[in-house]
Amino acid sequence: MEFDYLTLDDFEFKDKRVLLRLDMNSPLDPATNRILDDSRIKAAKSTLKSLKDARTVVLSHQSRPGKDDFTSLQQHADMLQKVCSQRVKFVEDVIGPSARDAIRATEKGEVLVLDNVRLCAEENLEDKGQKLVKTNLISRLAPLFTLYVNDAFATAHRAQASLVAFPYVLPSAAGRLLEKELSALNQLLTEPRRPSTYLLGGAKIEDKVPVIENILGSGKADHVLVGGNVGKVFLKASGRKFNESEEEWLAKANDQVLKASEILRKYENRIVMPSDFGAANGKRIEVDLKNLLSAEGELMDIGESTAKTFVEIIKTSKTVVASGPMGVFEQNEFERGTRKVLEAMASSGAFTVIGGGHMAGYAGMLGITDKFSHVSTAGGAMLSLLAGEELPAIVALVDASKRHRKSRSTP
Ligand code: 3PG
Ligand code: MG
Repeated sequence: MEFDYLTLDDFEFKDKRVLLRLDMNSPLDPATNRILDDSRIKAAKSTLKSLKDARTVVLSHQSRPGKDDFTSLQQHADMLQKVCSQRVKFVEDVIGPSARDAIRATEKGEVLVLDNVRLCAEENLEDKGQKLVKTNLISRLAPLFTLYVNDAFATAHRAQASLVAFPYVLPSAAGRLLEKELSALNQLLTEPRRPSTYLLGGAKIEDKVPVIENILGSGKADHVLVGGNVGKVFLKASGRKFNESEEEWLAKANDQVLKASEILRKYENRIVMPSDFGAANGKRIEVDLKNLLSAEGELMDIGESTAKTFVEIIKTSKTVVASGPMGVFEQNEFERGTRKVLEAMASSGAFTVIGGGHMAGYAGMLGITDKFSHVSTAGGAMLSLLAGEELPAIVALVDASKRHRKSRSTP
């Protein structure tokens, strides 16, 4: 699939004021709120290098209002300073007078980071770009810039104003990271080498279960292996009964369980569910499916036999895509499942892609990051793209490029 958008090579931005949308959303330590993994911030390096002579203003989000990790971007700005040669400043405002004064005062070769864009209530709505141009975020900021650059690949699946509306009012380009991600993932969208296996886990089931149907429907996956909470949702959908505490959260996830039942009806023979778990009962205990109901303690990892099955399938695959851990890998006894699948991918000759902060972060801790064909900064956005869904932020860039080319060709 070819995406026809403009890139940084299409514009001259020396001295120009450029609005750069990044995704610096990072996992924070719950106790201290410090950033635990700075890979999304580091990933901005190449675009910032290209913009070294511009007056760059960065917009990004961190989490969502109401969540514990919804914080200011001060420390993100401090970290950004370490990855670029420009002087980086921060302003505790997004669209108010202090932000606009600071934007006007930004000098050539400087980077100004605005505060968390989701502090603007309007940013938390999702709609068409053409409609969101009416928001204050756009009407107050856009007149201050000559170019908009989107390098926030990891959030390209959201239709929020900072991602989809600027391209309707400003000349717009894709940043270097966005270009790199799309070209690496393109191989999976066109002709994946077969057999092709997707490994999906993690806690955010609402980001994973719906895309599984599209991934299987697109015919690009031969097997989908499900671990983490995604695995539990599919087992529940297949009629398994869990212990009381697992049943409690599964009851709240009933929409996803129903969705998973539909998917199983259509594609049962392509989905591989866990056959056992590692449970936390003082220490790690292996629990097989017969003992799910009576198992004490939370199911924190895929079990030994599941890990073995998943590794075997990975070894015989020519394409492997993984997003979301197999269990609570942050705890020593429950990292095994996630480690085994990552190591199997790292040592295989397949085209391997991992996405999502947790898988990429753990691969980094294991020291095997460079053994993957591509490590994406995105989780949800990568899966939506691979499932054949349109990414609203990319659609907006493509529309902007069409208008730009048309205006160039009409005398
Ligand atoms: C992500 O990490 O998935 C992106 O930064 C988007 O954040 P969101 O899931 O809160 O919209
Ligand atoms: Mg997300």
